[in-house]
Amino acid sequence: MKQDQEKDKVGDTNNINDQQQQQDGDSIPRKGKSKSGKWRPSANPLVKRLVLSVDPPNWSTVFARPEQPVFIDVGCAKGEVLLQSSVANPGINHLGIDIRESLIDTAQRSHKILEIEAKCKVDNVHFMSANANVNLFNIAKSLPAGSIQKVSILFPDPWYKKKHAKRRVVNATFVNEIAMVTPVGAKVYIISDVQELYEDMANHFLSNSAFAKMENTMDAWDIPVSHKQSFYIEIGMPSWRSVLVRV
Ligand SMILES: C[S@@+](CC[C@H](N)C(=O)[O-])C[C@H]1O[C@@H](n2cnc3c(N)ncnc32)[C@H](O)[C@@H]1O
Repeated sequence: MKQDQEKDKVGDTNNINDQQQQQDGDSIPRKGKSKSGKWRPSANPLVKRLVLSVDPPNWSTVFARPEQPVFIDVGCAKGEVLLQSSVANPGINHLGIDIRESLIDTAQRSHKILEIEAKCKVDNVHFMSANANVNLFNIAKSLPAGSIQKVSILFPDPWYKKKHAKRRVVNATFVNEIAMVTPVGAKVYIISDVQELYEDMANHFLSNSAFAKMENTMDAWDIPVSHKQSFYIEIGMPSWRSVLVRV
């Protein structure tokens, strides 16, 4: 009961048997597994080689209709969410950003395979490797004014240790940058399997007067299920999520 109240306070979970799943929460592995079976450490976004400025692309060369509304997925990994959404929503441009070049290579390959399978161009999706904390603002500012409709931050690396918290992608500066580049009505989707990280992200957004929490998360969550999200649903673990709206 106490746990149910706690969850209501912080956001929606995806699960049915929450109490058991909540109890088991700490026993599951927290990092992705590579093909060799080794745990892959998260990329430290503060190391010199990753604190690089990246020029925004020429949008008219990467999108067939550059004037369209935009959905940005921060930490898009292999791009599953955006590839699925781009086919379902040709009237929206999709931009995936990830700090790991190898993941962006995979997303780009999947994009090509999708085009081969669909026998047509999927010309409303683009993936780029960049540190979002360094580059999101400039990249977003270079898009047509007022075009950013959705920003998702799905299962960002948790960086559990207190001394590593500054490596988390969502911080006050990042939220402020998103506020500056989004029009009123834009939606921000946040989700984590780590309750403390979810609360940290939600608090950063809600401490900024440019954002308010949407009441019914289930209805407001109108984007595809991410790779991590489907993993947690499959193994029956909870995740915490909210949709914030730019006010
Ligand atoms: C745990 S994975 C989640 C992947 C995907 N969003 C999902 O839900 O399946 C977190 C992703 O964020 C990326 N990432 C971490 N810090 C980042 C940063 N500062 N800028 C861009 N991407 C970042 C990582 O490389 C990784 O792919």
